[in-house]
Amino acid sequence: MSKNFKIALDNKIFEIISKASQELKLESYVIGGFVRDYLLQRDFKKDIDIVAIGSGIDLALKVSELLPHKPKVQVFKNYGTAMLRYKEIDIEFVGARKESYSENSRNPVVENGTLEDDQNRRDFTINALAFSLNQNNYGDLVDPFNGLADLENKLIKTPLNPDITYSDDPLRMMRAIRFSTQLDFVIETESLKAIERNKERIKIISGERIVDELNKILSTEKPSIGFLHLYKTGLLDIILPELTALNNVEEIEGHTHKNNFYHTLEVVDNICPNTDDVWLRWAALLHDIGKAPTKRFSKKQGWTFHGHEFLGGKMVKKIFERLHMPLNQKMKFVAKMVMLSSRPIVLSEDIVTDSAVRRLVFDAGEDVDNLMTLCEADITTKNPAKFKKYHNNFDIVRRKIIEVEERDHVRNFQPPISGEEIMELFNLKPSREIGVLKEAVKEAILEGEIPNEYQAAYDFVLQRAEKLGLKKV
Ligand code: CTP
Repeated sequence: MSKNFKIALDNKIFEIISKASQELKLESYVIGGFVRDYLLQRDFKKDIDIVAIGSGIDLALKVSELLPHKPKVQVFKNYGTAMLRYKEIDIEFVGARKESYSENSRNPVVENGTLEDDQNRRDFTINALAFSLNQNNYGDLVDPFNGLADLENKLIKTPLNPDITYSDDPLRMMRAIRFSTQLDFVIETESLKAIERNKERIKIISGERIVDELNKILSTEKPSIGFLHLYKTGLLDIILPELTALNNVEEIEGHTHKNNFYHTLEVVDNICPNTDDVWLRWAALLHDIGKAPTKRFSKKQGWTFHGHEFLGGKMVKKIFERLHMPLNQKMKFVAKMVMLSSRPIVLSEDIVTDSAVRRLVFDAGEDVDNLMTLCEADITTKNPAKFKKYHNNFDIVRRKIIEVEERDHVRNFQPPISGEEIMELFNLKPSREIGVLKEAVKEAILEGEIPNEYQAAYDFVLQRAEKLGLKKV
């Protein structure tokens, strides 16, 4: 006997879909993520997928007719799908299909099919589970591939031969890895091998869709699980070769350096519990990418990575462009974090001076707290004494940041005396001298020679101007 989950369908919308299906004399089912997440007792899903044995578009139109406010139905004729919104829930309707994909594109050749045909062409057994919305068996679980057992055994498995499922839609290789990271599931060995065999096909997938999956992996408790899978299957080398280039340890004359790939994954994991900002995780992921191209060995200094932060910051832009990621403030934030990523640690290795902290706050501006979070996550030393020392010094840096900011307000630095005023004071036209004087004021404030106040800056400008041979008018 099949299991019944009527209780999962106690939202009004399911009753209405059921009624609409009855009126159209077709069968319909809830399928995919909603069923999976219900059975896993995850939060109520705000996207619901409905499959109709017949026209999904007709069903959507009928459902809208039966709803009090007759919501707008978005129809995607080419895909045979339709969408409507009901109380903040997005409901997608699709007709059951039997599909085969052509070799070089994602565009399927579509024929109408049965529910089982449709379940067959879905990505994983756990995503092929369906609840019936039909009157005679409302709430029954339809599970032809033992998806329920796979849910219980925490297993990611494809309904068909995995070579077919992954080749049909190569994004599913990343979805397998994403679900396994998100849900803490194991990917079946045959599936993992198929991903390795089909990895090259990821190249036909758009950057946007790949990044969607990467963002979901980066938003989990432990993204390293996903990145290790991506690495082992060979996908990472295709998507982010800058990262796999960090996976080595060289030894010359007894000098080694740390494996920066595994270090990077630790840093990403370290950052997770503290933030829900995916962009800071991107910064963690990319913070050392400049190290592969800048790595040098010299007898005197051993291994060095001079200028890796600067180069890394520039590489961020190239990666964002390649993957069609936003090139707006988000990209600038990640590049800035990478460029500044060594600053606090250098600071904390020494005695923490006020002026060094002021300069840090000045350069990082609004992002100084995020930078501190990133840099604390960067401490992966296994030497307990060093670990303690760095963290203690970071506490001092954090305290000083607050002190210095209260006193000097350099976080969003506005010069206390303006260029216009300096021009008026000495009757100057726009000229080099003004830049020199403004820069001198800024430096004096950052060095702590004068406070960040109008009168002090005014007196300082007069003094400096005299040295430049300028006279007040
Ligand atoms: N699906 C698929 N292959 C894909 C994408 C989706 O077979 N490449 C199917 C799966 O049955 C999936 C359903 O379409 O459950 C809905 O897809 P989507 O909304 O992308 O994912 P969800 O499973 O709902 O999960 P999440 O919201 O976490 O992405």
